[in-house]
Amino acid sequence: MPTDIETEADVRALVAAFYGGIAEDPDLGSFFRDVDWAAHLPTMVAFWSSVVFQTGAYRGRPFAPHARLVGLERRHFDRWLDRFRRTVDARFAGPRADLAKARAEQVAGVFQVKLGLWKVGTV
Ligand code: HEM
Repeated sequence: MPTDIETEADVRALVAAFYGGIAEDPDLGSFFRDVDWAAHLPTMVAFWSSVVFQTGAYRGRPFAPHARLVGLERRHFDRWLDRFRRTVDARFAGPRADLAKARAEQVAGVFQVKLGLWKVGTV
C-alpha cells in the first residue's frame, strides 16, 4: 500500500519523478527543452511543499512563465494533469496526495482561463 506524502523528501521524489523525462514527452517535451533544471526543480519542490504542508515556502508568481509559452493548448494541460495524477498515484495515497491532485486541477483551470483556452460554460 502506498503511503501519503509525509516529508520534504517525498515532495522531492514526486517532483523528480514528474519532471524526469518530461523533455522527451511527445506532447509536452518542447515546452521544457530550455528549462534551467537546477533552478526549476527547487522552485517546484517549494511550490508543492507549500501546497501539501501549507508552509508558505513558495512565494513566486506561478502563472508568469506560462504566459510566455507559445502554442499551449487545452490538450497540453490534459496531458500535464494526466502525467501528474499518474505520478502521484504510482507513489502516494492519502489526503495530501489528494490535495496535490486537486490543486493541480484547480491551477490548471485557472491558467487555462487566463490563457483564454477555457471559458465557463464551454465543454
Ligand atoms: C501544459 C501545462 C504546463 C506546461 C507546459 C508548463 C511548463 C512550465 C515551464 C516551461 C515553466 C518554466 C520553467 C523555467 O524555465 O523555470 C513552468 C513553471 C512553473 N509551473 Fe508550469 N507548466 C504547465 C502546467 C502547470 C500547472 C498545472 C502547474 C501547477 C499546478 C504549474 C506550476 C508551475 C510553477 C509553480 C512554476 C514556477 C513558477 C515560478 O517561477 O515561480 N505548471 N511551467
